[in-house]
Amino acid sequence: MLRNEWDEVAELIHHSTNFWYQSNGKDLIFTGLSSDAILFCQVYEDLDPGCCLIAKCLNSGRIAGSCFYHPRKSHISLGIMNVSPDFFGQGIAGNLLKKIIKIAKDQSLPVRLVSSAQNLDSFSLYTRQGFTPIQTFQDLYLKIPENGLDFERSDDYLITKASLNDVEAMVKLEKKLCGIERGKDFRYFIENKLEIWKTILCRDTNGELLGFLGSVDHPASQMIGPGIAKNEKVTIQMLASMLDLFRGKSPVFLLPVTAKETVKTVYSLGGRNCEIHFSQCYGEHQPSKGVVMPTFMPETF
Ligand SMILES: CC(C)(COP(=O)(O)OP(=O)(O)OC[C@H]1O[C@@H](n2cnc3c(N)ncnc32)[C@H](O)[C@@H]1OP(=O)(O)O)[C@@H](O)C(=O)NCCC(=O)NCCS
Repeated sequence: MLRNEWDEVAELIHHSTNFWYQSNGKDLIFTGLSSDAILFCQVYEDLDPGCCLIAKCLNSGRIAGSCFYHPRKSHISLGIMNVSPDFFGQGIAGNLLKKIIKIAKDQSLPVRLVSSAQNLDSFSLYTRQGFTPIQTFQDLYLKIPENGLDFERSDDYLITKASLNDVEAMVKLEKKLCGIERGKDFRYFIENKLEIWKTILCRDTNGELLGFLGSVDHPASQMIGPGIAKNEKVTIQMLASMLDLFRGKSPVFLLPVTAKETVKTVYSLGGRNCEIHFSQCYGEHQPSKGVVMPTFMPETF
């Protein structure tokens, strides 16, 4: 993807995603302008310049498909993948995926992604090429009252805003709990040049880092994640603190379906389900030892 193709790719992401969900009887994913989706080009090119493949129609010159990928020390993560509805079912996504798998294989790295469980076109695209579902997540949203969440904080934990000095400890914790390394992403969120990210940390009373959680607040994406926590108690404390920063809004977030206590807490606060996702991996992965909250901005787990 070149700089002069950003507008067309943004339009493609917006139209293709909304078209798929709408024609399958579901709610729109992007409710704002198609130009809002330029956020994907902006953030991903900032983070990983030159890591978006596009498929162009030779007859019309139109962009028929696009896919971003994010090379990291431990893996390559993939997303967001889109094909224009006019070109669905012609093998375009499959071919983009093959090229990204080749890039990963050349570096002996696994490929990781999060795919919808409701969208079988997407689910089977990956499983047909050898990806294996690892974990199931439920997507929830919650309308946060203007005066904040009614939630009791625990004195056992200290929640603070993350700073660049915390990145090293965040990387270490995620490596230990999930086996992946992506300090570049954390630095980018915390630097927050676009003023759309928030990152918080949870420590115990001895100062030990127990988890962290990010979020994005932009017309194209109001989402909580990525995050990792040693256990559910930490997840609940961080999630409640982050939700409270979204007063008057309805952020979406992914929770492992096995995070029973967290899911119960979210329901008790009024949370509603809106999707189911699977994390999938091509190649080796370390089963996670903590509570993982993936996100689509950047799309990763
Ligand atoms: C999902 C999406 C990218 C697929 O694009 P596409 O170009 O139509 O996909 P392809 O034509 O390459 O088909 C993908 C593969 O899935 C297979 N497939 C589709 N439905 C299937 C099913 N129910 N069972 C088994 N295989 C299935 C196809 O046969 C094909 O495999 P093959 O090449 O081995 O025959 C496209 O529908 C899209 O953009 N959707 C909206 C946005 C979206 O959901 N993006 C994915 C986010 S993770």
